[in-house]
Amino acid sequence: MSAVFDVERVRKDFPVLSRELSGGRPLVYLDSGNSSQKPTQVIETMRDHFAMHYSNVGRAHHALGTESTDAYEAARDKVAAFVGAPSRDEIIFTKNASEALNLVAYSFGNRTNDDPRFTLGPGDEIVISEMEHHSNIVPWQMLVQRTGATLKWFGVTDEGRLDLADGVITERTKIVSVAHQSNVLGTVNPVAEVARRAHEVGALVLLDASQSVPHHPVDLAALGADLVAFTGHKMLGPSGIGVLWGRTELLEAMPPFLGGGEMIEAVWMDRSTYAPVPHKFEAGTPPIVEAIGLGAAVDYLNGVGMQAIEEHERALTAYALEALGEVPTLRIIGPKGLDGRGGTLSFTMEGIHPHDVGQILDDQFGVAVRVGHHCARPLHLRFGIPATTRASFYLYNTTGEIDALVKGLHHVQKVFA
Ligand code: ALA
Repeated sequence: MSAVFDVERVRKDFPVLSRELSGGRPLVYLDSGNSSQKPTQVIETMRDHFAMHYSNVGRAHHALGTESTDAYEAARDKVAAFVGAPSRDEIIFTKNASEALNLVAYSFGNRTNDDPRFTLGPGDEIVISEMEHHSNIVPWQMLVQRTGATLKWFGVTDEGRLDLADGVITERTKIVSVAHQSNVLGTVNPVAEVARRAHEVGALVLLDASQSVPHHPVDLAALGADLVAFTGHKMLGPSGIGVLWGRTELLEAMPPFLGGGEMIEAVWMDRSTYAPVPHKFEAGTPPIVEAIGLGAAVDYLNGVGMQAIEEHERALTAYALEALGEVPTLRIIGPKGLDGRGGTLSFTMEGIHPHDVGQILDDQFGVAVRVGHHCARPLHLRFGIPATTRASFYLYNTTGEIDALVKGLHHVQKVFA
């Protein structure tokens, strides 16, 4: 890959982007916040592994077992280096980001764990925010139902920023869990400040980085969080593979989430002891080829360069903010300027339901956007709206595609005027 970012060259690596939809419409894919497209390099790596190297990992003592295990563990190395994890053993492969977040929530208030950092009961507090995805809400609601702890929320300002009001984090806070970048607003949250406040009271910090790791250079050491969750399918990898990163000492203190094969050291009829991290958290046959595909996605992203990707998306976002501003009655929900935001733009159009917007864009213009509450219903309630239309950009998008979106939106406006 050339050192100079060339979007047309990037696009050639994504077979689906050359597809035409029915009626000869070229595909305009603006739904990468939902799930990204896959480059040939990822597709071929997975195909080759299935075709020529596949076997189980960790427990197959033969040539293919070694090849599969080596490739699976090499993917762990790649992911660790990609996010600056101090140790490869701090990368746990999960099914997705939701599973990674549930794993952490499960560790709290689990009676097998007497580490005071993880014991939770009435009077203890968990802090999340109004802009969270349901994956970072529901596991905590389930946890407070089990333990009697209290769930508290940072609000969201009218501009779509985290409202870091005093008094939300208190001496009783055990964990603060927030999104790094909102999947609706595009807002990038001040993680260092959240971590500073949480650590002042001895609380842990968990970050949902599903929407940030694919789009920005991320250095875990600089972030200040204790635990970070993200997912493969939004960063050019396949679905079925997610990641939890945590500091070694914390992961060692956390009880396993799921029990089964390969997560044990020894099993007796009345008890078991557990394997060291990361394997303690990877019960059963893991998503082998999915992890290897994620490793190939990381290679691809490194080849293009995360800095270049961030800059490309920033230019697209600037272009889109201006162009969308010209569409009558369109209201962006989230920051209207470029600072502290990524390439995810959600909006409403007066008197027009987002489902109608999405359908016309899709049927008549080949533009794929996401419509609905984007698994962030409390955030939509906060803004008094049932749903939004969301365009989300990635390295393969172009300003021409944003023109297609805007043209479609002007048409929607005329149809409903
Ligand atoms: N969380 C994904 C989205 O925002 C599914 O679309």
